[in-house]
Amino acid sequence: MISFTTFILTLLALFSLSLSAPMRRDVFVPPITYPQAGVIWITGHHHNVTWETHDAPVNITNGIGRVYLATNTIIDLDHPLAIGFDILDGRVAIQVPSVPRGQNYSIVLFGDSGNYSPEFTITSL
Ligand SMILES: *[C@@H]1O[C@H](CO)[C@@H](O)[C@H](O)[C@H]1NC(C)=O
Ligand SMILES: *[C@@H]1O[C@H](CO)[C@@H](O)[C@H](O)[C@H]1NC(C)=O
Ligand SMILES: *[C@@H]1O[C@H](CO)[C@@H](O)[C@H](O)[C@H]1NC(C)=O
Repeated sequence: MISFTTFILTLLALFSLSLSAPMRRDVFVPPITYPQAGVIWITGHHHNVTWETHDAPVNITNGIGRVYLATNTIIDLDHPLAIGFDILDGRVAIQVPSVPRGQNYSIVLFGDSGNYSPEFTITSL
């Protein structure tokens, strides 16, 4: 009888453990604060892409950041502007690439999830 009760209690304990055991991991989609809409970047110049980090959850699923350039929401995955930085840094320096004229560009920041900046312009001197 005691062993049966112990068995049931053990089952209950295991069950509640299995409910609480998976570590809570939160998706963090940091809003980009720079570049803003209407910004003009010049090819070859350096800029800090910046984003807000104060809403970051304690446990982030993927804390390694990547920054890409996008045109019409199509991300240029072959040419990352920055990779391997901490998503909690809040900024990363990039060099403006040489791009076709007459397009609007946006920056995409990946950590847990992708987040687009507003559209801006890239020109060359
Ligand atoms: C964060 O993860 C740690 C273990 O890595 C865990 O102990 C803690 O409860 C988690 N915190 C939240 C808020 O999920
Ligand atoms: C980026 O920010 C850091 C820290 O504020 C600063 O030292 C650096 O000069 C900035 N880089 C550019 C390209 O603005
Ligand atoms: C770029 O954005 C401006 C302002 O929103 C818009 O007028 C223009 O048509 C856009 N150009 C392209 C190539 O999408």
